[in-house]
Amino acid sequence: MVVPKIKHIGLLTSGGDAPGMNAAIRAVVRSAIFNGLRVSGIHFGYNGLLSGDIHPMNEKSVSGIINRGGTILGAGRSEEFKTKEGLARAARVCQHNKLDALMIIGGDGSFRGALELFQLHNIASVGIPGSIDNDVAGTDLSIGFDTAVNTAMSCIDKLRDTAEAHERIFVVEVMGKESGEIAIDVAIASGAEGVIIPEVAMDIPKLCQDIRKGIARGKSSFIIVVAEGATSAYHVAKHLEEARLGRETRVLVLGHLQRGGPPTALDREIASKMGAYAVDLLLLGKTACFAGVQSGVLVDYPLSYTWEGRRPFDVKSLELAKRLAI
Ligand code: F6P
Repeated sequence: MVVPKIKHIGLLTSGGDAPGMNAAIRAVVRSAIFNGLRVSGIHFGYNGLLSGDIHPMNEKSVSGIINRGGTILGAGRSEEFKTKEGLARAARVCQHNKLDALMIIGGDGSFRGALELFQLHNIASVGIPGSIDNDVAGTDLSIGFDTAVNTAMSCIDKLRDTAEAHERIFVVEVMGKESGEIAIDVAIASGAEGVIIPEVAMDIPKLCQDIRKGIARGKSSFIIVVAEGATSAYHVAKHLEEARLGRETRVLVLGHLQRGGPPTALDREIASKMGAYAVDLLLLGKTACFAGVQSGVLVDYPLSYTWEGRRPFDVKSLELAKRLAI
């Protein structure tokens, strides 16, 4: 399909918000303006596109946001956009607002919608991976992951104090619908004694055995990190209580806390680089693709790669988390 010359970009953040999205918004807006393009912000994701919640942006609209969590554009998931009628309406709104291309900051679900809009209605689009889960194939990092890991780590550092004071076991549930990436990195960074992730079958008897060994060696506290997609922390805690390990067990579900707060330097940096690169991709006439980063180098892949490709499971990091937990 022929992609029209891009003069006006519609920018939206979609799916769950992630710290660093604002840095990406800033980078897109300022790079686009630098290259003589206009940008309009679409509020609240695809829902805002369908309702025409679209507003012009300028250099000033993105001042003072690089350090802020959340997204100034608002985020959201849209069921209506997934339907044929929704896609047709979205295309009409793009035409009515003279948007030549969409820039979507979000995860693979958001990229799917963008691809359908291009395939059915020739609306050009470029994606920027934003999801704390870090589950987008084709990029080493998604915006928000590093901040989420750091947030969970500092919560566990605090938890460790009280866990030691009371010689308790804490089961900490972190986010990660289908991916154990947050759980593994948090387990390594916080020195957790156990980690349970969706990619590997849970082994409660082995976990109990490890905790018993630790107690015998004089360990005072135990932190077990569980990815929400594997099972619930309460379920794990129940098993540990039933095993009568001689320690009280408590649960902490970190939940949406992990999605908030100021982005780390790494998230601000990758968001800025991928945002500017995404504008470059559009200017090169590329569409239905997304910007990513691999081994520190900016790369691009077709949007479909995020669900057709495979994100390799980091088995080495999982082994390391377990090896260092003794
Ligand atoms: O996809 C990111 C994520 O934060 C997941 O880790 C989590 O399961 C989900 O979003 C929560 O979604 P919601 O904000 O709709 O409850």
